[in-house]
Amino acid sequence: MMIEPLPFIDLAQQRQHLGDSIDRAIQRVLAHGNYIMGPEVRELEHSLSRFCGAKHALTCSNGTDALGLVLMALGVKAGDAVFCPSFTFAASAETIVWFGATPVFVDVDANSFNMDPDSLEAAIRTAKAEDLKPTGVIAVDLFGQPADYDRIEPVCAAHRLWLLSDAAQSFGAAYKDRKVGTIGIATATSFYPAKPLGCYGDGGAVFTDDDDLAALLTSLRVHGQGTDKYDNVRIGLNGRLDTLQAAILLEKLRIFPEEIERRNRVAERYNAAFEGVARVPRLSDGATSVWAQYTIAVPPARRNALAAGLKQSGIPTAIYYPLPVHRQTAYRAFPVAGNGLPVSERIADEVISLPMHAYLEAHEQDRIIDAVITELG
Ligand SMILES: Cc1ncc(COP(=O)(O)O)c(C=O)c1O
Repeated sequence: MMIEPLPFIDLAQQRQHLGDSIDRAIQRVLAHGNYIMGPEVRELEHSLSRFCGAKHALTCSNGTDALGLVLMALGVKAGDAVFCPSFTFAASAETIVWFGATPVFVDVDANSFNMDPDSLEAAIRTAKAEDLKPTGVIAVDLFGQPADYDRIEPVCAAHRLWLLSDAAQSFGAAYKDRKVGTIGIATATSFYPAKPLGCYGDGGAVFTDDDDLAALLTSLRVHGQGTDKYDNVRIGLNGRLDTLQAAILLEKLRIFPEEIERRNRVAERYNAAFEGVARVPRLSDGATSVWAQYTIAVPPARRNALAAGLKQSGIPTAIYYPLPVHRQTAYRAFPVAGNGLPVSERIADEVISLPMHAYLEAHEQDRIIDAVITELG
């Protein structure tokens, strides 16, 4: 009998849940025709800033450009060392290289998958030994959980480093009493369709409480414009979010809190079921997650068989990430903290992500849980 495969992320279910509100929002944009920087863009920026409590929210073209805009505004340049974890999506490191600066890769904690503050200290020593100037830190909130900011911030303060939060996967989460978007000098997020808050194309945003930085970002986002539209006062980029995507995000933002709760309920059920058969993801003290991914760790020798067995049962899985960034072709020449990144290398062989979205029905969860336990039991 052919088993109907489950989707890894179910955007069709979400669309059904939203009724025709997205279609109506798109129709409104088609009717007014302001496709670039139309009213929905400003409205979304207000709503995003209200949602997370950041003073400024600036939407932009995607999560990579969100990181790049901040680095451009901060004047990152050749000779600068910018520290970022290696166990992440390559975009976290990519924009550092755009500006001729050097990414210095930091190891992660095996339980949270996020930057290890001790390894950050080691990376700073490595950068100095290579005659690089330690300049800033890009901390990544991997899989939806904020990084260990209470330990990262004092390291940044002691070495006078700015802190940029790569929250591409964590918008909607919180760290202690701080919402993602309000940590560090700025926060960058992505609205890629598969993200917890995703649009129907590319999109992103930068959050900051710093008025000067916000003004600079506003200019850089539109080719470095000044007060006179045709007198560009600095070099920037075309980094705007389309009005249509803003209209879609406004509708999705309305149901986002409820979706975050649903994702958390799925993660709680998974954790309870898989405790004892795999290493389950753990939230750090005071952190919440939006579960961009639900990722367990299994012995490397068992991972392929697990993925194959689940596929047979119609359950898709994904490996985030099979190669830490410092092992990827374009990044091999860049320095790594101390004597290497043993945790990043080990967990790249252990991790496997299971279907996770807000519309995963109880019977679907049961099916996934039973299949994983059968494979690993
Ligand atoms: C951690 C991280 N940083 C940055 C990005 C880049 O976002 P985008 O795809 O919107 O450019 C992603 C997207 O997958 C990501 O997961």
